[in-house]
Amino acid sequence: MPEEPTTPDLVERTRHACEALSRRDLDSLLGVFAPDSIHRLVNPRGGVRLWDHPGMSTSKQSAVRLVAVDDLGASQVTVVEETPHGAIAVGISAGKPFAVSNRCRHLFASLGEGNVTTEGCLQCPWHGARYDVETGKMVRGPQGAYKPLAGVVKATAGAIALKTFPVELRDGVIWLLG
Ligand code: FES
Repeated sequence: MPEEPTTPDLVERTRHACEALSRRDLDSLLGVFAPDSIHRLVNPRGGVRLWDHPGMSTSKQSAVRLVAVDDLGASQVTVVEETPHGAIAVGISAGKPFAVSNRCRHLFASLGEGNVTTEGCLQCPWHGARYDVETGKMVRGPQGAYKPLAGVVKATAGAIALKTFPVELRDGVIWLLG
């Protein structure tokens, strides 16, 4: 019975296969199959590594697929668990993709389970704190029962901006760069 190929074998084989493909073939392969099949094959930690994509810049070669815009749903944001930065909140604001660290500065709710407001802010699902997705800054403190403390929270824990990560929108998919 033939031995099961190891992950390094599969990566090496995929690398060779990619080198043998024309750019058009590879574009079409990535467009059709990249989300899951190649992703599992070449990058068990999640995402598609494009280091073998002919003609791509260095930064694009290390791009990691995060999520398709169509999969974001009405909230326009989601949590992507398996990234080089751990779980991050990824979404679309005013037509532009964004990725920020996932934990609210107030009581650590998962921001990817919140929503993007009509003003383009990322809103926490627990108490409604809001963040500017470009800078990561809290622009509104928590609401509801915590509203009297909104200013204090914003000036203390909220003064530390969320981490922001470089992303790009390509063919309806948000990619993490670098
Ligand atoms: S945990 Fe986010 S506003 Fe309270």
